[in-house]
Amino acid sequence: MNYHNVKFAAAYGTSSQLPASTRPEIAFVGRSNVGKSSLLNKLFNRKKLAKVSSKPGKTSTINFFDAEGAHFVDLPGYGYAQVSKSEKLRWAEMINGYFEQDRDFTLVVSLIDIRHPATKLDVQMIDFLKEAELPFMVVLTKADKLSKTQMLRQVSALRKQLAFGPEVEVVPCSSENGTGIDDLKKVIEG
Ligand code: GTP
Ligand code: MG
Repeated sequence: MNYHNVKFAAAYGTSSQLPASTRPEIAFVGRSNVGKSSLLNKLFNRKKLAKVSSKPGKTSTINFFDAEGAHFVDLPGYGYAQVSKSEKLRWAEMINGYFEQDRDFTLVVSLIDIRHPATKLDVQMIDFLKEAELPFMVVLTKADKLSKTQMLRQVSALRKQLAFGPEVEVVPCSSENGTGIDDLKKVIEG
């Protein structure tokens, strides 16, 4: 896969606006501020491909990026409490609506902060992915915040918490220092 050739394709504010899948989709999902948009930028080595913010709630639409015959999909985050009830409902509609459609889900990358146990909503997301039998992997974000020893400890703690078998790929990554990005690319390629 060539990560040098990517372009923004479109943004959708509700799942009903989404066109039918025309390409394999690789979707990035996780709580607000976990680092979805940053990870996309790091993958493609483009600082401003997807908008990033230190404040949660930055990505407020479903954003499609074209690369190599696939669509990379940056979703809004879940679990951000500081927005209006109507915004919260709209975001939930986008995330749930996206996954309820009959789309060409090639890989769902579920992002979880490596520093903490999975939240209730993270667990719900993983349970959904398992039940729907969607192909998924887990990226543990912000790995630069931990030492190597702490990192390994968190990988096994989260594997245990989420009851993953050996077939589930769990990759610690950092969009700051590039840890794990090559491993992530290998899983995407596979
Ligand atoms: P929403 O769009 O709000 O759902 O957030 P998001 O998941 O897209 O997160 P985003 O990429 O906007 O990053 C949120 C914050 O985390 C920003 O301040 C990033 O700089 C920071 N961040 C993201 N990835 C990393 C990482 O690997 N390491 C560190 N230290 N900070 C990170
Ligand atoms: Mg974002």
